[in-house]
Amino acid sequence: MTAERTDYCGTLGLGDVGRRVTVCGWVHRRRDHGGLIFLDLRDRSGILQVVVEPSSGEAFAAAERARAEWVLAITGTVRARPAGMVNPELATGAVELVPERIEILAQAKTPPFLPAEADDVDELVRLKYRYLDLRRPSLLAHFVLRDRVVFAARQYLHAHGFLDVETPALAKSTPEGARDFLVPSRTQRGRFYALPQSPQLFKQLLMVAGFDRYYQIVKVFRDEDLRADRQPEFTQIDVETSFLSQDRILELMEGLVHHIFRETLGVTLEPFVRLTYDEAIRRYGSDKPDLRAGPPLVDLSGARAGLGFALLAEAPALVGVPLIGVQPTRRQLDAWVDAARQLGAGGLVWIVKTGDGVRSNAARALGEAGADQLMAAAGLGSGDGLLVVAGPEREAQAWAGALRLRVAEDLGRMEDGFRFLWVTDFPLFEWSEEEKRLVSAHHPFTRPRPEDEPWLEQDPARVRALAYDVVLNGVELASGSLRIYEPELQAKVFRILGLKPEEIEAKFGFLLNAFQYGAPPHGGIAFGLDRLVMIMAGAKSIRDVIAFPKTARGTDPLLDSPSPVEPAQLEELGIRIIPPR
Ligand code: AMO
Repeated sequence: MTAERTDYCGTLGLGDVGRRVTVCGWVHRRRDHGGLIFLDLRDRSGILQVVVEPSSGEAFAAAERARAEWVLAITGTVRARPAGMVNPELATGAVELVPERIEILAQAKTPPFLPAEADDVDELVRLKYRYLDLRRPSLLAHFVLRDRVVFAARQYLHAHGFLDVETPALAKSTPEGARDFLVPSRTQRGRFYALPQSPQLFKQLLMVAGFDRYYQIVKVFRDEDLRADRQPEFTQIDVETSFLSQDRILELMEGLVHHIFRETLGVTLEPFVRLTYDEAIRRYGSDKPDLRAGPPLVDLSGARAGLGFALLAEAPALVGVPLIGVQPTRRQLDAWVDAARQLGAGGLVWIVKTGDGVRSNAARALGEAGADQLMAAAGLGSGDGLLVVAGPEREAQAWAGALRLRVAEDLGRMEDGFRFLWVTDFPLFEWSEEEKRLVSAHHPFTRPRPEDEPWLEQDPARVRALAYDVVLNGVELASGSLRIYEPELQAKVFRILGLKPEEIEAKFGFLLNAFQYGAPPHGGIAFGLDRLVMIMAGAKSIRDVIAFPKTARGTDPLLDSPSPVEPAQLEELGIRIIPPR
């Protein structure tokens, strides 16, 4: 009979010396020291060294047979390691197990890669054998953290009166800006459900229902181009509240993040910085500023006048990246000039000032006085440097913003830690080049700022919204807004977005209808849980915090999905496939 486990491998220490225990797990490593066999046994909790002596008879025979990733149950006695053999890198490094019985529970084929050395394995292979990949202790740690983050979030939201309410996965299209994943209906031939891009409309209906505070930790689905921080299905911590001002919502949600970091990492966060969208663009050239990357950009447009260099003097705007106390190498400066060109800027002027004078790639055109004029305008002096980009204001800001990040990376000046901020007052609409029309910057249910409402019809582009994002280390972590709750205002926004009355009725009639039965003022937010855990864990890709993620092409190499289906299934759904050309 199999001995029953008494302990987890990773929990044993000096306090257990002399105890007779049974541990179960996988052979992480096996070393044969001519006579003595060392087995590192691994389970979810950690790794324990087992020392098998030839004198241990059947146990030794089993240890001789055992190979990497075989599954064993080992009964033996815990002893302190001899002096000099203690391994400080291992939590159980002060002890080892001397077995009396080793039972082989399962053998393993030679795996395509070993969890002990999987770091350089091609990601496609890792995803195909994801169950082996997930045996890596470093990867497991992400899921332990993820569980704790979810637990802490629930704890906080429950304590603050939020109700966890489930909403349908077979739903109808909601406009969050991506394509829908569609699910054909068998019983209503020719009709489709859409998997939700967010529970946005349901949570608003729950506010109309009077639920007051809702949350859900929920899978949502978006058919969009994938990147390192995007998956076609991902998880939101989704929240909606009634009767609260924007300030009160931000306070409650900032409290949630503080609670999560305190409970899971023991980290006390600084109060979040707050910037309006305009400030973020001006100071960082981005609506997702990375506050770790050093000082903000400087607006040098005021210092254009009188510059001898026409390219700068006559540019619509000049934006500077200050290099405080930095003397970059010529190679670095040349690389940044190239980077600026690749971004789309005509070029980049650099200025470096030392005790010996001023150096610049535009020294001839600019002269020492011109260079000094720009340095002074940026508040810089001897020992500092400055990168200047010229162009239309928004573009120049964006280019300088990207260069600011590149410079911080290249100079090793990216600070450690978690730098949060709120970005508020987003524009309500933005121009879509692709669709050649105004689209919602957030989504069409977002409330305009009351002072900007008069501009809705005359000049919609200048209307700001009661919308806010949480940004962490340059990543958009959460997005939310106060909502429109008046049917007339909602219909007006739909019209500005170019929806025809029939379309409004077909797509959102139910919402406008609901708003006619007593809708409370409401607002909310959704956090990207995967992104949050990714940054907390220091992972490079969102795939490393999702147990069974999709590749960048949206496939799952383990299941080989998406996959063809039986003709009979299609027949039943009334669907015929047009083969790709
Ligand atoms: P939004 O569309 O901004 O807002 O989504 C909220 C947050 O979800 C995360 N996120 C993603 N994470 C992984 N993969 C993706 N493809 C992906 N797309 C978005 C981001 C983002 O900030 N209904 C609104 C919220 C609201 O108004 O309450 C919404 O879904 O971290």
